[in-house]
Amino acid sequence: MNTIYRCVDADSIDMSVVEEAGTVIRRGGLVAFPTETVYGLGGDALNPSSSKKIYEAKGRPSDNPLIVHIADMDDLDRIAADIPEVAYKLADRYWPGPLTMIFKKRSVVPSETTGGLDTVAVRFPSHPVAQAFIKASGGYIAAPSANISGRPSPTSGEHVRQDMDGRIDMIVDSGPCDIGLESTIIDLSHGAAMMLRPGFVSAEMLREVVGELETDPAVFHETGPDVRPKAPGMKYRHYAPKGKVTIVSGQRDDVIRYIRDRLAANSGKIRTAVLSDSDDAVQYTQADLVGDMGSRDDESSIASKLYDMLRRCDDENIEEIYSEEFDTPQLGQAIMNRLIKAAGHNTIKV
Ligand code: TXA
Ligand code: MG
Repeated sequence: MNTIYRCVDADSIDMSVVEEAGTVIRRGGLVAFPTETVYGLGGDALNPSSSKKIYEAKGRPSDNPLIVHIADMDDLDRIAADIPEVAYKLADRYWPGPLTMIFKKRSVVPSETTGGLDTVAVRFPSHPVAQAFIKASGGYIAAPSANISGRPSPTSGEHVRQDMDGRIDMIVDSGPCDIGLESTIIDLSHGAAMMLRPGFVSAEMLREVVGELETDPAVFHETGPDVRPKAPGMKYRHYAPKGKVTIVSGQRDDVIRYIRDRLAANSGKIRTAVLSDSDDAVQYTQADLVGDMGSRDDESSIASKLYDMLRRCDDENIEEIYSEEFDTPQLGQAIMNRLIKAAGHNTIKV
């Protein structure tokens, strides 16, 4: 398949490109598009054959439901049922933005889109290009992250091109994503509110609106085969680079010493990388790649660089990746959730 590739400036949107993308969707095709979190791989959410194509293009198991993206509050009612009052409060505060809410679904949403579940995940993104594209497409875009299943999510048009060129009809590139980590997911379909995936909207920020909030144990702990994570996507090894990731936690000096020892032991034998904060980066000269994640005071910089760093490790054929811990105030939960999954829970306390 020949993939059409177009750049769109988010500050001055070329509507002819948006219309072109909308036409592809209405005809049942697939378009990758920017959002404030990560790039999405979009298809018509109400067309079962589009959802099937999304699973094929991603190489994703079809029991893993897709998020439906809307661009108008009035469109929520048509796809979701039994919407609780608290959802409107959350929407007032955090929509449009990096929050996904799960509701009981209406029958207009095909089970192909929801992986066979009777619930539907809905998000109203804030990215202006995403909003224009959703409207031009008829209002309902099913979109997972636009990566090949198992690879880190794409945070730039170039990442999308690496994974999706030749597999989908069109890529709309608006440059790097602001946030760089997927949306927070909250389940409102079963009474008590439960966070299924941490994101830019932290648990703390959710509690300010919902009060009581549970967290799915799968967010931070390895669950046995008998425990089913509430978000089916959380059960797959996710966000994974090809190299083995080890998270090293402890006092700063101990962490630096441990990683330096490992680099020295591996030097000349296997290719190594370190994900480090700016202050510590100079300590790791023996690594083949030092991923400087930025200052710990600037957590949004750390979040937005994470997936690009993991992809660079793949580009450089890195076999061992050591990462410092990044437990920052608002985004720390989200950053560590993604890192822990990339590491397959391989954490060393020194
Ligand atoms: O920021 C984001 O959310 C990005 C952009 C493109 O919007 N999308 C994204 O989609 O991250 P995806 O498919 O990579 O992750 C969606 C997660 C999966 O873990 C999936 O299992 C879960 O949401 N999910 C979707 N619908 C669900 C439902 N009805 N019940 C429980 N979990 C659901
Ligand atoms: Mg994904």
